[in-house]
Amino acid sequence: FDFAAPANEPVLSYAPGTPERAALKKQLSAFKAEQVDIPMYIGGQEVRTGKTVDIRPPHEHKHKLGHFHAGDASHVTAAIEAALKAREEWANTPWEHRAAIFLKAAELMATKYRYHMNGTTMLAQSKNAYQAEIDSACEIIDFLRFNVHYLTEIYRQQPASSPGVHNRLEYRPLEGFVLAVTPFNFTAIAGNLPTSAAMCGNVVVWKPANTQVYSANMIMKILIEAGLPAGVINLVYADGPTIGDICFAHPDFAGIHFTGSTGVFQTMWKTIGNNIHKYKTYPRIVGETGGKDFVLAHKSANVDVVVTALARGAFEYQGQKCSAASRAYLPSNIADEVKTKLAAELKTMKQGTTEDFSNFVNAVIDERSFDKIAKYIDNAKNDPKAKIIAGGNYNKSEGYFIEPTVIETADPKYVTMCEEIFGPVLTIYTYDADKFEEALVTVDTTSEYALTGSILAQDRYAVELATRKLVNSAGNFYINDKPTGAVVGQQPFGGARASGTNDKAGSALNLYRWLSARTVKETL
Ligand code: SER
Repeated sequence: FDFAAPANEPVLSYAPGTPERAALKKQLSAFKAEQVDIPMYIGGQEVRTGKTVDIRPPHEHKHKLGHFHAGDASHVTAAIEAALKAREEWANTPWEHRAAIFLKAAELMATKYRYHMNGTTMLAQSKNAYQAEIDSACEIIDFLRFNVHYLTEIYRQQPASSPGVHNRLEYRPLEGFVLAVTPFNFTAIAGNLPTSAAMCGNVVVWKPANTQVYSANMIMKILIEAGLPAGVINLVYADGPTIGDICFAHPDFAGIHFTGSTGVFQTMWKTIGNNIHKYKTYPRIVGETGGKDFVLAHKSANVDVVVTALARGAFEYQGQKCSAASRAYLPSNIADEVKTKLAAELKTMKQGTTEDFSNFVNAVIDERSFDKIAKYIDNAKNDPKAKIIAGGNYNKSEGYFIEPTVIETADPKYVTMCEEIFGPVLTIYTYDADKFEEALVTVDTTSEYALTGSILAQDRYAVELATRKLVNSAGNFYINDKPTGAVVGQQPFGGARASGTNDKAGSALNLYRWLSARTVKETL
């Protein structure tokens, strides 16, 4: 078998008058007209507990899309048992058969269910059509297709043999089950974490964020239609601590594939450490855990490139990408012009529901997030160290709307320059344009995170210097571009320091973590 390198799934435009815009609008109306009843999926069974949680668009509180059935400890235990029961058969299913299931799922997402995938993401995660298309259509499809290709390449790598001796490497899955804990902000990440482990022959318990269940359900239904056997991926909605307590105390716990907050990841790691004597095998711990992503402009930077990198990098999807630009370092020679142009650019960005395609900015995910972001803004309003130079208003009466907000500070360690906010808030610090090397040190030492970052400069020496000095400051480093929008197959994604274990999503580096090889030497 040979699964050749795929091409990236083309991005549809949804421009006015296109058939795809009409089809997507029709799907949105259909979803809004129904009341969905979402079960958990355990061992191939749909499980309804009657303990329901409502699903509402973050941009329209008054509308109910339906509900999902929440589980408790007994469902987590049942999911682990179902996974372990499916394990042997799945681990021994030939690769071309396993691969065909995920490739078929990708094809279903690209064709029959493209508008379903985007529609659920637009409504329940408040992403505009373009942001949904690059996530819940293209990125998830690319993850599935590229991972099949990378895994095929890995399986081919074999050791040397010698006269009278034949050696082989068998790439087995881990001995046990993998727990996938996934975030709300990318439907693609939610799909990738369970499927990449499952593709390698592992069985999985999948816990999505409550705010992403609407699109998680769509992914699960598509995987089942593509032929995923019962018990290989079990989708459960129980609260995080309950899932953690049960999974991390289980002798067959073999790995965690996580995207979420640094605090939760560190707590999980400690629990796993405390329980290490309980496990049959050392668990694999793989996590992507946030960022405080920077844009550093040099005095030679093109002003319009800087403005676009900030406007799009900081405010697409309301700044809720882990890669979003949230601290900017502007050189004194162009800072005023950048700030004026950026404020003007933000005025052109309309905010509102995702169903109105003219809106660039939608709502933040939930009340907790809204309140946290609003507090940072209020604190900045009352702090002499900070000045709000654009936006600053918020309103949660109809939806969780926060204006794209720009804070300016003369203190490079001001709280919004350092802490992850996960919302539409950018903080700008202006440095002396003749002290670029000092600015490089400030960028590197201001934050504990190291996920993404950009250097904007026309001077090649500045580009080279930044690339070298910021080598540990960002796992995804951009030259003359915004720090968001990594494309699967082109820019493998992930960072180190407090941003995670840097096992790049959408690459062989990630897939190796879900394999446990056996070396077999046969003497002839
Ligand atoms: N892959 C996304 C980006 O690069 C973040 O998860 O924006």
